[in-house]
Amino acid sequence: MKVAIVGFGTAGGGRLSGYRSVPGVEVAAIVEPAAERRRAAAEQLPHGRVMASLDELLAEGGVDVVDVCTPPAYHVPVAHRALTAGCHVICEKPVAVSLADAQELIATARSHERLLYPSHNYGTSPMMRLLRQAVDAGIGRLESARFQILRDRHARGVHGFRPDWRRSRELAGGGILLDHGTHCVYMALRLFGELPAKISCTVGRPVGSPDAVDEEAAVRMDFGSAVCDIELSWRAGLRANHYSVTGTEGFLRIDDDRVTAEGPDGPQVLDLASPSRDQTHLDWFPPMFADFRQTLADPGRWHVPADEIAGTARVIETAYRSAAVGGAPLALVGDDTRPGVHTVSPV
Ligand SMILES: NC(=O)c1ccc[n+]([C@@H]2O[C@H](COP(=O)([O-])OP(=O)(O)OC[C@H]3O[C@@H](n4cnc5c(N)ncnc54)[C@H](O)[C@@H]3O)[C@@H](O)[C@H]2O)c1
Repeated sequence: MKVAIVGFGTAGGGRLSGYRSVPGVEVAAIVEPAAERRRAAAEQLPHGRVMASLDELLAEGGVDVVDVCTPPAYHVPVAHRALTAGCHVICEKPVAVSLADAQELIATARSHERLLYPSHNYGTSPMMRLLRQAVDAGIGRLESARFQILRDRHARGVHGFRPDWRRSRELAGGGILLDHGTHCVYMALRLFGELPAKISCTVGRPVGSPDAVDEEAAVRMDFGSAVCDIELSWRAGLRANHYSVTGTEGFLRIDDDRVTAEGPDGPQVLDLASPSRDQTHLDWFPPMFADFRQTLADPGRWHVPADEIAGTARVIETAYRSAAVGGAPLALVGDDTRPGVHTVSPV
């Protein structure tokens, strides 16, 4: 399988290392508009093609999969071009900033019979495996989940492009809710196994800058008989990750590298590698790529990643709409039967 990485920054560099650890895959090309990053790419991929434009790559051909690792604003146009040129696409998160864009991209993948797969790598993290095990067999019926991601600032991109693009609405599409919130939302969708009925959200922006992207967000996903609370901050003054699930018969809680749990086997304490150890989460790539490969081999399952992309975009778009009306609980935007048509109803 021949892959092209588009965007050779932090995520793109991590991806090149990741592909080296999976058999049967060759990174054949890297597309990168910034000269400094092209030089880095040429050093790290001496026998591959390194080029400035996606059109050049697609005209030459010779790749099966395009892996989109650009800032969010370019995800949809790059993925769209690659799908229509006949490539399968793996795309960094958030795949799309709006539900309408997500649905349009999914429709493009469908009509060109190509797989669109999100780089939802927290889904194959050790944290997620433990949470999943607890929910599947250990804590009884899931009643609540709580995810808390605390940072003293946003992650910075590479030198040679715009290291602070995460603060640009134009490039990032939103702030921490879209950046880290995306991971929390698809994790919740997988754990609860359904879309929430209602969302409420408040966000915090720098004082006096209403147009700035959100630096804090508090989201409640209400599943009817269960809730998931997500708390995110780029201004917490510390770096910490907490994930917990509580059920009728126990709980599991992850505090960075420490896991505490209580269930049918009594109390447990385990150690875990902290997700803060490596920004590109290299260890989580082989299991995610294995899932991509399995999904690719079974077109009957291509709707699974598509549903997750659309579901995540629906939750986040609804959360921003709730924040815009002071945190009121809202029913999910969108109507699956009418792609791109939005409805919002306060509940
Ligand atoms: N899943 C994860 O754990 C994870 C971790 C880090 C980043 N990300 C995601 O990866 C993406 C990139 O983030 P990053 O931290 O690597 O940013 P970065 O700034 O480090 O790198 C972005 C790269 O994309 C290049 N680029 C910009 N416009 C481009 C275009 N139109 N076509 C091709 N390349 C272009 C830039 O020159 C730069 O080299 C974002 O969507 C981010 O959310 C995900």
